[in-house]
Amino acid sequence: MSVLRTKPIRDVLAQGSDEGGEPRSRLRRRLGALDLMGFGIGIVIGTGIFTLTGIEAKNHAGPGVVVSFAIGGVVALLAALCYAELAASVPTAGSAYTYAYATMGEIVAWIIGWDLLLEFALGSAVVARGWSGYLADLFGLPSAWFAEEGSVVNLGAIAIVLILGVVATVGIRESARITNLLVLVKVAICVFIVVAGLFLVKATNLSPFIPAAEPAGGGEDGVRQPVTQAIFGLEPSVFGFAGVLTAAAVVFFAYTGFEAVANLGEETRKPRRDLPLGLLGTLLISTVLYIGVSLVVVGMVRYTDIDEGAPIASAFKAAGAGWAAVLVSIAAIAGLTSVILVELVAMGRIGFAIARDGLIPPSIARVHPRWGTPYRISAIVTVGVALLAGFLPLAALADLVSIGALGAFLLVSVAVPTLRRRRPELERPFTVPFSPVLPIVSALACFYLMLNLSVETWLRFLAWMLLGAAIYFGYGHRRNRLARREAGGAGVVPGRRPVEQLGRG
Ligand code: ALA
Repeated sequence: MSVLRTKPIRDVLAQGSDEGGEPRSRLRRRLGALDLMGFGIGIVIGTGIFTLTGIEAKNHAGPGVVVSFAIGGVVALLAALCYAELAASVPTAGSAYTYAYATMGEIVAWIIGWDLLLEFALGSAVVARGWSGYLADLFGLPSAWFAEEGSVVNLGAIAIVLILGVVATVGIRESARITNLLVLVKVAICVFIVVAGLFLVKATNLSPFIPAAEPAGGGEDGVRQPVTQAIFGLEPSVFGFAGVLTAAAVVFFAYTGFEAVANLGEETRKPRRDLPLGLLGTLLISTVLYIGVSLVVVGMVRYTDIDEGAPIASAFKAAGAGWAAVLVSIAAIAGLTSVILVELVAMGRIGFAIARDGLIPPSIARVHPRWGTPYRISAIVTVGVALLAGFLPLAALADLVSIGALGAFLLVSVAVPTLRRRRPELERPFTVPFSPVLPIVSALACFYLMLNLSVETWLRFLAWMLLGAAIYFGYGHRRNRLARREAGGAGVVPGRRPVEQLGRG
C-alpha cells in the first residue's frame, strides 16, 4: 500500500529547521506573532462579510444570519485549535498537507494539498474579480474590461494579481508590511461600522429573529439543493433553523483562509509559541467583528429589503447615513487586496512543500538566495491565478472555496488524535483541550457543513479531486522522495543530506 506511506516526523522537522535541509530549500525566519495575526486577518476578512451577509439574510436566514456567523465561527475555532496543536508541534510550510503526510499517508496528503491549492487559487481569483468590480465602480471604468459579467478579459483582476504576486515573490517581510497596513484600515473601519451601526439599529427589524421555514422558490432544487436535502428527500426549504444552517455553510466562506497562518511555520521566529497565537487570535477577532457587523446590518434594514450587492453600504444609506458608504468601500478594497496577497503567499508555501517532497517537480521548490522566498513556485501560482481571474467568470464557484477549506479542516481534525496515538512523546507546546472529543466534534461539524453545500458544489469538488488523482498516479506516486528512497533502499535522498549529517560542513 505505497500510497499510504507516511513521512517520518523527524524528516519534517529537519526540513523546516534552521540547520536542516539544503540552504536552497530553506525559508527565512522573519515573522512574529503580530505579523501572523496580520496575515490571518488579512486573508480572513474579505468579500465574505461584505457580500454574503446580505445574500444569506435575504434568502436563507433573515436576522438569524447572525447565528449563522456564530456557528461558522465556532466550527472554524474548533478547527483552528486542531491546527494550532499540529502547527506548534510540527511547524512546516506545508501545514495540513504535511500533517496528513506524517499521519494518514501520502495519498491523503496529496489530496489535501491539491484541495488547498483549489481553495486558495479559486479564492484569490474570485476575490481579484471582485476587486476589479469595485475599482470599476469607483472610477467608472469600462465594464468590458473590469466587470464580473460580460468582460472577455478582466484586466483589473489580472493587474492586481500580478502586482501582488510580485510582492509575494520578492519578500515575506514586504508582504507582511503591506498586509499589516491593509489590515489596520479594514479592522478600524469594521469597528467603526459596528459602533456607528449600533446607534441605527431598530429592534423591529430583528423580529422575528429566525423567520419561519417556507418552501424554497425556484432555483433551490436539483443539483442546487443542499446535499442534506437531497439525501433525506426533504422538500427544499428556506428560513427556519435549517435555513440558518444552510447560511452557516455558505458564510463559512468568510472564515476560510485563517489556516494560511499555519503555512508560515518555517518563516516564524518562534513558531511553537506564535503559531497558536496567530491562528486563535485571528479567529477570535474575526468572529467578534463578523457577529457585530452582521448584527448591525440586519438591525438597520429589514432583511426582506436588504440590498444583495452592497448590503452594508446600502444599510447605512437606508438608515440615513449614506456617507458611511465611502468608508465601507475603502474597507472592502483594503480587505480584498490583503486577501489576494495572503492567498498568493500561502499557495507559494503549499506548492513549495509539495515540490520539496517531489510530488511535483522538485526544482520548482528552489528558494531565492536574497529574497528568501520560494520564488519559482510563487511566480507560477501568480501567473496561474492571473489567468484564472482574467478569463473565467468564477463567482458561481465561490462555494468550492468553502468545501475545499472544510475538507482540509476535517482531515486536520482527524490528524490530531491520530498523531497523538502514533507519536505520544512528541513535544506539544499547545494541546487541544478534551482530545479526542473536541477534534471529533470538529471533524463532524466540518462534515455537516460540507453536507449543507449544494450537490453541484460536491460534483465540482469531486471532479477537481479526480484530476488530482490523475496527476498523483501519473507523476507524484512514483517520483516523490519517499518512493525514490524506498526504490533506492538507501537513506540518502538526492538533494537532501541525511539527518545525522545535518549541521556539519
Ligand atoms: N475569507 C475570505 C473572504 O471572506 C476568503 O473573502
